[in-house]
Amino acid sequence: MSDAPLAIVGNLNLDLWVGPVERFPRTDEELLADSARLELAGSAGYMLQAALALGIEPRVVSTIGDDAFGDVLRHEMARLGATVRGVETLPGEETSLGIIFVAPDGSRAILSTLGAHKAMDPVVARRHDAFVADCPAAILCGAYLLPRFGPDAIRPYAEHLRRRGQLVAFDPSWDPAGWGEATRTATFRLLPAVDVYLPNEFELLALTGRDSLEEAVVEAAAVAGEVVVKRGAAGALYARGDERIAAPAPPVAVSNTIGAGDVFDVGYLYARRRGDAPRERLCFANALAGLVISQPGRRTYPSVGEVETAMRRAACAGEEAPA
Ligand SMILES: Nc1ncnc2c1ncn2[C@@H]1O[C@H](COP(=O)(O)OP(=O)(O)OP(=O)(O)O)[C@@H](O)[C@H]1O
Ligand SMILES: [Mg+2]
Repeated sequence: MSDAPLAIVGNLNLDLWVGPVERFPRTDEELLADSARLELAGSAGYMLQAALALGIEPRVVSTIGDDAFGDVLRHEMARLGATVRGVETLPGEETSLGIIFVAPDGSRAILSTLGAHKAMDPVVARRHDAFVADCPAAILCGAYLLPRFGPDAIRPYAEHLRRRGQLVAFDPSWDPAGWGEATRTATFRLLPAVDVYLPNEFELLALTGRDSLEEAVVEAAAVAGEVVVKRGAAGALYARGDERIAAPAPPVAVSNTIGAGDVFDVGYLYARRRGDAPRERLCFANALAGLVISQPGRRTYPSVGEVETAMRRAACAGEEAPA
């Protein structure tokens, strides 16, 4: 099945997974690890893979470098069947890389470079405007991680998409700058141009400076069209005006949660677009994320049928749960 294309505008990079790492080498010491693998990553990398598996054509707009990592990234996208038309290769820049050291217990230490992400800005996004013009929805991701694609910078772009009748979804991730007043002010100025705001619980609490999730949701839902809060093992919460709908996540044996929120977003937008009610959207997205994060090693991303099977197993298919 093929659905309408989804514009994904934001951070695309590679992650290098190295492990297991028992301890870090001292200066001038060399240790051996069993495995190292490169993965298509960044919010856009995870979103595009989840989208392809659901039959959605991802239209990614981002910036990468003209280095070997950039070659790998373009090659990997093409191999998966995603178009690289909106991915700009910037001369002289490095591709953003996350190096993820995985400890034997699964915990991770991460070292990242920004590289070509420093140059991602609304001018780049506008240059690829025709490419995304027929996407019914666009998700703007990684805004806090992209120095020139923050909430202030992207507001006119979001408003432009909106005026053209496109749904604007927004998942800026964690603010590495520490959730200062500038982040708060810029985000609250952007949210009226956002139809679907998708923070996780900790991000929303940090943004609003609240201790109570409900108070934080009230603040965000007063300005954004709808707010969908990702809550890890607790599932997700939908808020629109005074309406609240919660859906617990199916219990899964978690193996690797990286990208959980990103694939959740794509699942939510897919279910929303096909007309599912809010509770079913949350159930679909929870089930999709659960399938992704419970796989050890190299991942595959689930089809619509596989997500729906997982939803039925979790008694979350829109019918009353069987006793
Ligand atoms: N331990 C878990 N058990 C079951 N489901 C989970 C678990 N952790 C995450 N999920 C699923 O993944 C979704 C997104 O996870 P989370 O709330 O951690 O988002 P996030 O922090 O934005 O993720 P990311 O690290 O990708 O940014 C959850 O809403 C839930 O559906
Ligand atoms: Mg997230």
